[in-house]
Amino acid sequence: LKVLSVASEVVPLVKTGGLADVVGALPAALAGHGVETTTLVPGYPAVLATLGRRAKAVHAWDSLLGTPARLLTGELEGGHPLLVLDAPALYAREGAPYTDAAGRDWGDNWQRFAALSRAAADLAGGAMSRRGKPLGYDLLHAHDWQAALAPAYLRYAPFSGRAVPSVITVHNIAFQGWFGAEVFPQLGLPGGAWALDGVEYHGGVGMLKAGLASADAVTTVSPTYAREIRSAAFGMGLEGLVVSRGADVHGILNGIDEQVWNPSTDRTLAARYSHRTLDRRRSNKRALEAEFGLEESDGPLFIAVTRLTWQKGMDVLEEVLDHLVGIGGRLALLGSGDIALERSLIEAAGRHPGRIGVRIGYDEALSHRMQGGGDAILIPSRFEPCGLTQLYGLAYGCLPIVARTGGLADTVIDANPAALAAGCATGVQFDSVTYDAVAAALTRAVQLYAQPALWQKLQRNAMKCDFAWRASGQAYAELYKGLLA
Ligand code: ADP
Ligand code: GLC
Repeated sequence: LKVLSVASEVVPLVKTGGLADVVGALPAALAGHGVETTTLVPGYPAVLATLGRRAKAVHAWDSLLGTPARLLTGELEGGHPLLVLDAPALYAREGAPYTDAAGRDWGDNWQRFAALSRAAADLAGGAMSRRGKPLGYDLLHAHDWQAALAPAYLRYAPFSGRAVPSVITVHNIAFQGWFGAEVFPQLGLPGGAWALDGVEYHGGVGMLKAGLASADAVTTVSPTYAREIRSAAFGMGLEGLVVSRGADVHGILNGIDEQVWNPSTDRTLAARYSHRTLDRRRSNKRALEAEFGLEESDGPLFIAVTRLTWQKGMDVLEEVLDHLVGIGGRLALLGSGDIALERSLIEAAGRHPGRIGVRIGYDEALSHRMQGGGDAILIPSRFEPCGLTQLYGLAYGCLPIVARTGGLADTVIDANPAALAAGCATGVQFDSVTYDAVAAALTRAVQLYAQPALWQKLQRNAMKCDFAWRASGQAYAELYKGLLA
């Protein structure tokens, strides 16, 4: 079974968030289930640089939505096939994948990602050939709004009339790819696609909406989020459409890549360890304290590794920092995003020297050292489709303290009396992202930490959880096979 997976990011080539981790991990997750996954991504400069000069062009378009483009082949880690869409007019520019150096969305994002989607639909439909024989795929899997027009192209304008089934995965329904009506005539879709059950959305083009309406199946990245987006509080306007797709909507939990996130083999750590050698975490903690300028102590060291946005509840965390310090906690925080939040977090660190350390930026290796040395990771998200940092925290024995929403609700077992009695707790959950709820959760964590034998039991429980890709890889494979049957 050959699947074309199309997305705007993939680890290790380009990453702004968890989407890249998941797209990068899927090929290996599916390989054991008889699925060969080819991943298609845009040819941003950083991606082309990794391909090098030897990259082979295997297909070309004279005009892909108006610009010349070609397709280069490469490999992801593990030898999984990669296709890179090289369209210099769209992708050859400095800046981030979606924004310029000043953080503004590129004005032609509609075209950049419509072209990616058109290319995917062409390839799935057999545009690429070898010795005159079309090379198609059995199924197209699109991720998020940037690839969401692909199912619409397959539905309304398939290449050479060959429509293959499609799946769309919603990693975050808050990002929808909405553009004005004036872009519609340039998408190369027939007039019939401008419809209530097509690409039209509030008088413009809704890319995610088009994908949700057109794909044969919709998945999202946790069972709880799949339920939540049926409601106005989480559906961001698309809840009616989600409800109307009924049983076509599936919640499949993300996994973690055990090659990358494994404390017993992690080369970024001062000391590697397993659930049997938890004592060795102490030297990682000392190293982390030094790295963040925190005073040495055996008291609880909280960490946060996150985009600094409203979604992640970082404004509430900032308010609760005085309380955190007041109950004997310390915090090491790594993040970037909202400028006002960056500023207020740095200010808080200034108020609490030795107790709060803040690093603004993006640093993959540091994020590993934090999971390997911190005692607990704070994730007060207002919504969280799946979340990966709590899974990394579980694997590293850095206990997650999380809001009970989305994938956080599905993966962390709150240390309530029932779970403690049953011996299965792995962290702390709280109900709402408010000062009182977060403060109470922190207090509860500090009380648990004060009982070393109990805390270590929670750490062992957490580290023994199995959130590797096996089960979810199988769930995707079964979904694909069902659509092809
Ligand atoms: P989201 O995709 O919504 O940001 P996830 O928890 O799914 O949330 O994934 C975030 C990913 O990005 C994780 O791999 C996390 O470790 C990483 N990450 C987030 N912020 C940073 C940062 N400042 N430095 C390093 N890694 C980060
Ligand atoms: C999105 C979500 C996050 C999820 C990730 C990967 O960025 O915000 O919760 O883990 O996608 O699916």
